[in-house]
Amino acid sequence: MKLWGGRFTKETNQLVHNFNESLSFDRKFYHQDIEGSIAHVTMLAKQGILSEDDRDKIIQGLKGIRKDIEEGRLEFTPEHEDIHSFVEANLTERIGEAGKRLHTGRSRNDQVALDMKLYTRDEIQELSHLLKDLLKELLTIMENNLDTFMPGFTHLQKAQPITLAHHIGAYFEMFTRDRQRLHDIKERLNYCPLGAGALAGTTYPLDREYTAKLLGFYGPTLNSMDSVSDRDYLIEFLAALSIISMHLSRFCEEIIIWNTNEYRFVELDDSYSTGSSIMPQKKNPDIAELIRGKTGRVYGALMSLLTAMKGLPLAYNKDMQEDKELTFDAIDTVKGCVSLFTGMVSTMGFRKDVMETSAKNGFTNATDVADYLVNKGVPFRDAHGVSGRLVLKCIAKDCALDDLTLEEFKEESPVFDQDVFEAISMKTCVEKRNTIGAPGREAMKKVVEIYKKRMEEEQA
Ligand code: ARG
Repeated sequence: MKLWGGRFTKETNQLVHNFNESLSFDRKFYHQDIEGSIAHVTMLAKQGILSEDDRDKIIQGLKGIRKDIEEGRLEFTPEHEDIHSFVEANLTERIGEAGKRLHTGRSRNDQVALDMKLYTRDEIQELSHLLKDLLKELLTIMENNLDTFMPGFTHLQKAQPITLAHHIGAYFEMFTRDRQRLHDIKERLNYCPLGAGALAGTTYPLDREYTAKLLGFYGPTLNSMDSVSDRDYLIEFLAALSIISMHLSRFCEEIIIWNTNEYRFVELDDSYSTGSSIMPQKKNPDIAELIRGKTGRVYGALMSLLTAMKGLPLAYNKDMQEDKELTFDAIDTVKGCVSLFTGMVSTMGFRKDVMETSAKNGFTNATDVADYLVNKGVPFRDAHGVSGRLVLKCIAKDCALDDLTLEEFKEESPVFDQDVFEAISMKTCVEKRNTIGAPGREAMKKVVEIYKKRMEEEQA
């Protein structure tokens, strides 16, 4: 069933229809399409462009279609080109003449722009909730691990001691920014394109402010050509999804490393791990690997849309139909990854003893040895040299800095005294770092309080 058969004398080639159609995927936003149509006819009737009787018939018909789709009574039959044609044809079948008035003062170009915005807005909301659930989990882990020592790394080499709370806190910051980014995108996209028509508005006296308000937008878009050809918000959205994927992927990479036999910092729960068909001993972190792996397809979606848009003259071009499948895939992928990831970390066990031993064994307090000397008046550069030589000594003896005798310390510098042992103990090393943002207990507690307060305020 075509919306545009009038000027054609031949049937569409079947392959052309198959290539051109979008119903197989844009059916995904049937709900938003119907929501938009209801707002549109409500406005048309208010403006006297459509009778109240027709409006009521159309709205009733649209609601019937929506219910039938939801309850599985209405099938998306493939002869229809897209969701817009499908709904209109179905409506006319149900209510007759009035159905043919639905498309008054509207084009599929502004209609599809609206549907996609409504869909993106809904999905942003959902994803933001999923990220919030993840943040809550991370906050719980942080609260429980303010004193869990572990090595902090640079170059994947042990660097300085930190706590697990502090490490997890870094991801808390990343996912918080991810949520803010989603929010920013919503703020920018939240203007209604309906009424832009095909590209140049319409001659009907539409009340675009009213339609925008009915649909929860801040107002109407201000340029009809841009309204039907703007896909910036989707590119931003895909970029935000890419960044979320990147953050998840980094975290997964760490979990995979931490879960190895060599590290043993964490143990994935059996319910979130998989086995090998040949090697009986294996317990593999497939979920973390898959989440890391799926990052590629999300980046791919971003690159695809950027590329699809780069040469398009104003205004609408069919190329833009390509935005749908890749956005749908990216959002479904990221939502799935965030949920799975939340389940995985909330069931994961931390081996606190292994983490602490690891922090002790990697000379992570070498900076503190230097700082100790600096506090006693030695210039930092000299202190750095002394500490480095002490590390060499330890490597030769296969021991930790804490295991050296005072005499051995003194061989490198007479400034060392008995209090060096206290000064370079793991506890001191972490506790002393108490400027805001650092891993020390007091600093971390303050930060956790800030996070908790923010969460509560959002709830209120
Ligand atoms: N399926 C189309 C899309 O996704 C809907 C808009 C069609 N407009 C048109 N002029 N053919 O972009």
